[in-house]
Parts: sequence; C-alpha cells; structure tokens
Amino acid sequence: MSEVKIGIIVGSIRKKSESGRIGKYINSLVDNFNANIEVEYFSLRDLDIPLWSEEKWESGSDLKAFWKPISDRLKSCHGFVVISPEWAGMVPPHLKNFLLMCDGGELAHKPAQLIGVSSGMGGAYPVAELRMSGYKNNFLWWMPDHMILRQVEGLFMSTPPSALDEILTARLNYGLEFLIETAQAIQPVREKVQNLKLYKNGM
Ligand SMILES: Cc1cc2nc3c(=O)[nH]c(=O)nc-3n(C[C@H](O)[C@H](O)[C@H](O)COP(=O)(O)O)c2cc1C
Repeated sequence: MSEVKIGIIVGSIRKKSESGRIGKYINSLVDNFNANIEVEYFSLRDLDIPLWSEEKWESGSDLKAFWKPISDRLKSCHGFVVISPEWAGMVPPHLKNFLLMCDGGELAHKPAQLIGVSSGMGGAYPVAELRMSGYKNNFLWWMPDHMILRQVEGLFMSTPPSALDEILTARLNYGLEFLIETAQAIQPVREKVQNLKLYKNGM
C-alpha cells in the first residue's frame, strides 16, 4: 500500500471535549493499521479559525494568509474522519464555519467517515445535518456508513474494555479500513476526472 494520509477533524472547541477524546482514540486505531498511514490532526479548538468573511476571497488578506497553512495540510490528506458533537440538536457553528472555509478544493472528492457524538442519546442530528448541507461546495464525499457514539463519556474508558467498547471498536476499525482503502482507490479517479475550475460549486 502506498502512503495514505488521513485527516482527523474534531468539531468541538470545548477544552475537555469528548469529541477530542474520541479523535485521539481514532488516531490510535489508525496508527495500528499500517506503517504507511499517516494522520494529520485538525482540532478546531487549537486551530481557532475566525468566522468566514469576504476577506477569505481577497488576495493578500489576513484571513487568506491565516488559512493557507491549514489549507495546505488539508490538501495533503487523502481522506478524513469528521467527528461532530451534537450541540442543541445541531453541528457546532465552528465546524460549519470550517466547512465553509474549505472552498479551495481541500476536501474535494475525498472520502470522509462521519462520527456523531453525544453524552446522551443524541448524535443523529449532526449526522443528518452534515449529510444534507456539509458538502455541497467543498465536495467532501461522505462514506455511507456513519457512526454515532452515544453516552460517550462511558466509552473506551475501562481496562479491560467493556463488551460495548469491543463492539464499537470493531465497527470503527471496519469503517476506517473502508475509508483508507477508498481514499487510496479514489485518488487516481480524482486526478483523472476532477475539474474544479469548470465546476467550482455543487448544484
Ligand atoms: C452547547 C451544547 C449543547 C448541547 N446540546 C446537546 C444536544 O442537543 N443533544 C445531545 O445529545 N447532547 C448535547 N450536548 C452534550 C454533548 O453531547 C456533549 O458535550 C458531548 O460530550 C459531545 O460534545 P463535546 O465533544 O463538546 O464534549 C450539548 C453540549 C453543549 C456544549
């Protein structure tokens, strides 16, 4: 397998974020796969991205300069894991802002494993929201099989792992293997077909 880079995007900006804890857990799972797989970690808390404004399109603007190194790191990735907590039945605005900032092909036609997170029994709303409105102009390609981690505070916390931890870890690994294989398989297709100059925005 040639080198594959997976970006892990953590959609919470809370200091003690469960999405962040899950992001680190997923990072460790990806590390276990294969030495040829690298992880780029994008914590929205650490990145502290300003709200989108038209400055984003002005050459020489501060916002453009701020975004460039993040954009370059995203462009180097072949696929993504996007972890979204449910906040008031929504995707956190920081994550929607991040997706709006990605208008330079950073995510375009790259597969993404979507993971909803909830401390209660939620987690479906951010999945539905991102599937409906998270991809149009950035062309992120959601994998069909998302995961929802409910009552997350109790997951992957015990040694030895609980029976539920084992079931969820097996399914996470299944999704990650699909993601990694797809990321690799789709790369030549993207290189052959993608034309973002002609079709810059989705319909
Ligand atoms: C502003 C806010 C609103 C929230 N609203 C919901 C909600 O609507 N449904 C839900 O299941 N959990 C909700 N939660 C709890 C999150 O599920 C919980 O914080 C979980 O740990 C995931 O978020 P985190 O990654 O920020 O920790 C909310 C949390 C915050 C901070």
